Amino acid sequence: MKKVITYGTFDLLHQGHINLLRRAKALGDYLIVGVTSDSFDKNRGKLNVRNNVLERVEAVKSTGFVDEVIIEDYVGQKIDDIQKYDVDIFAIGSDWEGLFDYLREYCEVVYLPRTEGISSTMLREETQDEVKFGVVGCGRVARRFIPESSFVSGVKVVAAFDTDADTLKNYVVTKKDIKPCLSFDALLKEVDAVYVATPHLSHYDYIKQSLLAGKHVLCETPMVLRGERAKELFELAENRNVVLMEANKTAHCPAFNHLMVMVKSGVIGQVVDINASLSKLWDDDLTLREFNPEQAGGSLYELGSYPLLPIIKLMGVHYDDLILFSRMKGGVDMYTKGLVRYPSAVCSFQVGLGVKTEGNLVISGTKGYAYVPAPWWKTDYFELRYENQNENKKFFYQWDGDGLRYEIQEFIRCVIGHRFSTARLRRRESICMAEIMQRFTERQNLYEI
Ligand code: CTP
Repeated sequence: MKKVITYGTFDLLHQGHINLLRRAKALGDYLIVGVTSDSFDKNRGKLNVRNNVLERVEAVKSTGFVDEVIIEDYVGQKIDDIQKYDVDIFAIGSDWEGLFDYLREYCEVVYLPRTEGISSTMLREETQDEVKFGVVGCGRVARRFIPESSFVSGVKVVAAFDTDADTLKNYVVTKKDIKPCLSFDALLKEVDAVYVATPHLSHYDYIKQSLLAGKHVLCETPMVLRGERAKELFELAENRNVVLMEANKTAHCPAFNHLMVMVKSGVIGQVVDINASLSKLWDDDLTLREFNPEQAGGSLYELGSYPLLPIIKLMGVHYDDLILFSRMKGGVDMYTKGLVRYPSAVCSFQVGLGVKTEGNLVISGTKGYAYVPAPWWKTDYFELRYENQNENKKFFYQWDGDGLRYEIQEFIRCVIGHRFSTARLRRRESICMAEIMQRFTERQNLYEI
């Protein structure tokens, strides 16, 4: 019996796939198809796949050409599979011409003619509603948004607004498709969604105006600095049937996400301690917004939502006690350490604009601990460590570009799927962070050092 194997994502199964499978089957007697797993696709940067692995497997089976479906989950698996299944022919579309010649050592390699004029990418683009984005606040942060959004299908930045005319001009100077708007109201008329990247204190008004105009909102973190404001805005979003999401990029980081679900499923036992630290030293330019108390500068507002994330995600929003220790200068905290006590755990975090810290994340449990080296907030790597070092495991992931593409993609998924909340950053978690910011503002349980 002649065995043939082929591989693919087979998203939105189309005629090109069907032709390919028919031709592959005709090469032998038994056809094995390797369908990529969801995580494998994500790890190799294929973020837009529409059908999940079960749907794709079913679609491949329904063609009637396939004798066996397997899941492709890691780089190098093809060699293993060819040997394991005693394969005679590896077949793949001609768009891969030459790229799989290295398999000739193991079996015959055949490049089959690709069907012209159709692909999953094309179908995804044709069938996806395009979400038109407007950017408000065209500074440093917003500059990353445009290149990052180009990696997500269904997104188009069409308008921008900034209170500073020069900043706005510079932002759009090389981007012909983006309309510079003279007012925020004018921007709202052009768009379906708003990306808010203005200084913290203006977030609330921009978000509220956008939601009232029926626009979806992705707002830079920290979204707002008062718990009740966060609550109010999420309620307003739900009433207006639009999505409001805090743009915390770590929450959408593939490695971080996997770490969270692993820890939640008990791989290090019961979590008893979390320490998360993040510092970013700036030049001693005290005129920067980051050091300006009038503009909510300081370490906690600026950086706090990142280390609070693993604590709140793993231990929940109902802590017993929170103590803050801050070193103040010129009305802002150059460094803040927080201790968060839960019924069966104690967590701590450090943030610094004027103090350098180690910058790692350590989650300690009754069976082992997770160690994520700096910069853990945009990590592509972590370790699980145990008493018996032979059990230690290292995990590696993809982290592309500035990483904003992951949050933009999830935002678009929520907009298209009419989901108000994402498991990656629940509304109650965003509210809890805003409440903690508020405690700091009100100097509750805060000690200066
Ligand atoms: N294929 C083909 N003709 C097409 C599209 C795909 O023969 N028009 C083949 C590919 O060469 C590959 C298999 O189908 O052997 C699975 O390809 P896959 O990457 O899943 O499909 P694409 O449509 O190319 O997907 P994408 O646009 O996401 O890259």
